Amino acid sequence: MAVSKFPGFLWASLLLLIQPYPALESSRLGSDSAIVVNPPPLGICASAVTKYGYRCQELDVTTEDGYILSVQRIPAGRHGGGGGGHGRIRQPVLLQHGVVVDGMTWLLNSPEESLALILADKGFDVWIANTRGTSYSRRHVSLDPDKPEFWNWTWDEIAARDLPAVIAYIFQQTGQKIHYVGHSLGTLIALASFSEGKQIDKMKSAALLSPIAYLSHMTTALGVVAAKVFAGEITIVFGLAEFNPKGEEVSRFLKDLCADPTVDCYDLMSALTGKNCCLNASTVDAFLRSEPQSTSTKNLVHLAQPVRDGVLAKYDYGNPAFNVEHYGVPMPPIYNLSNIPKDFPLFMSYGGQDALSDPKDVVNLLDDLKLHDEGKLSVQYVKEYAHADFIMGVTAKDVVYDKVISFFQRNQ
Ligand SMILES: *[C@@H]1O[C@H](CO)[C@@H](O)[C@H](O)[C@H]1NC(C)=O
Ligand SMILES: *[C@@H]1O[C@H](CO)[C@@H](O)[C@H](O)[C@H]1NC(C)=O
Ligand SMILES: *[C@@H]1O[C@H](CO)[C@@H](O)[C@H](O)[C@H]1NC(C)=O
Repeated sequence: MAVSKFPGFLWASLLLLIQPYPALESSRLGSDSAIVVNPPPLGICASAVTKYGYRCQELDVTTEDGYILSVQRIPAGRHGGGGGGHGRIRQPVLLQHGVVVDGMTWLLNSPEESLALILADKGFDVWIANTRGTSYSRRHVSLDPDKPEFWNWTWDEIAARDLPAVIAYIFQQTGQKIHYVGHSLGTLIALASFSEGKQIDKMKSAALLSPIAYLSHMTTALGVVAAKVFAGEITIVFGLAEFNPKGEEVSRFLKDLCADPTVDCYDLMSALTGKNCCLNASTVDAFLRSEPQSTSTKNLVHLAQPVRDGVLAKYDYGNPAFNVEHYGVPMPPIYNLSNIPKDFPLFMSYGGQDALSDPKDVVNLLDDLKLHDEGKLSVQYVKEYAHADFIMGVTAKDVVYDKVISFFQRNQ
């Protein structure tokens, strides 16, 4: 089902690997005065939520470094249902997507199958984040998204700027601590923040699907990409600027990638994310309509660094002098995941077929958490699942989401 020759799809897989979404045609308006590029006309609420009878608000959150992020809030269940009456307060849940995708990833299946809407119907107050650079968050108070300066960031900044801005906003609006769901890169930024003791004071718990921290065991296609990153090829081709999966340069890059005998481009989705068991072909089509989206080339370089080094650290500027300039020390500071507070409730679900979040790498991650308080870390292993099954799988409600919901209910 995941087989496709559509080049956008190739990119989609790549993006899942690193983990955000696709840019829509309208994202490159290039208007002269336009520091703020208007997002595509139909927002996420209108295109994927309100049509099913859910209320949905489009909100903007500005980060400390000036990025204007689009956030959606689904405050109640379908037709206002889902509990919360009789003085019961609906608990906020933040959904954080992965790389080269955006918040749409949570809304691609039917309402009965999509996590965001399932949570709303179960009585949660659902918030969907869209990180910098994605279609609806391609805006800044002073930088132009068509200029390289706009793209000068990595997941360090998503963790240190985007995540705190969105969490602070939800906390302020609801007056409540927040449950978190991350997929792929959305797990990495949470783990990185928590390891520095950040955000925990505003969070109730976190569910991490296809958790990513160490990427040493990723399988071949990604290895090829990583090799190109290490060889500096990616930065030579793209500069430290926008990496637009739907752009010309990326198409050429993918052609080269597909010439590599170890990469099967007829099934790159599988090559990059693993053999997803349970995707609906129509969901995959919907995915390709909204994804993959742009990210920064610098972010890709940063994502490749732990593949090479086996260490989770801030962006490595490539030589000791530059690192000293940025961090005051010759080596980039590491994110030590053993420092995540041991009593913080965590749920992790990982798949046996996942080529990005390889089970061996997840085991390394779990080793960092081996001293976590008993009862505060729940781990689920889903033998037949690969990377995309966790967000788009037609069986994900029964297999994973019901467990996430009972985990949240245990940790209110
Ligand atoms: C990118 O940001 C760093 C600081 O994080 C700065 O030193 C560098 O000059 C910036 N590069 C560009 C091209 O804006
Ligand atoms: C797959 O998607 C189609 C179109 O949305 C839908 O009619 C069908 O029921 C879906 N199949 C499953 C197993 O969810
Ligand atoms: C991470 O922290 C733990 C305890 O907090 C410490 O034992 C370990 O050596 C640290 N790891 C690294 C790589 O610094």
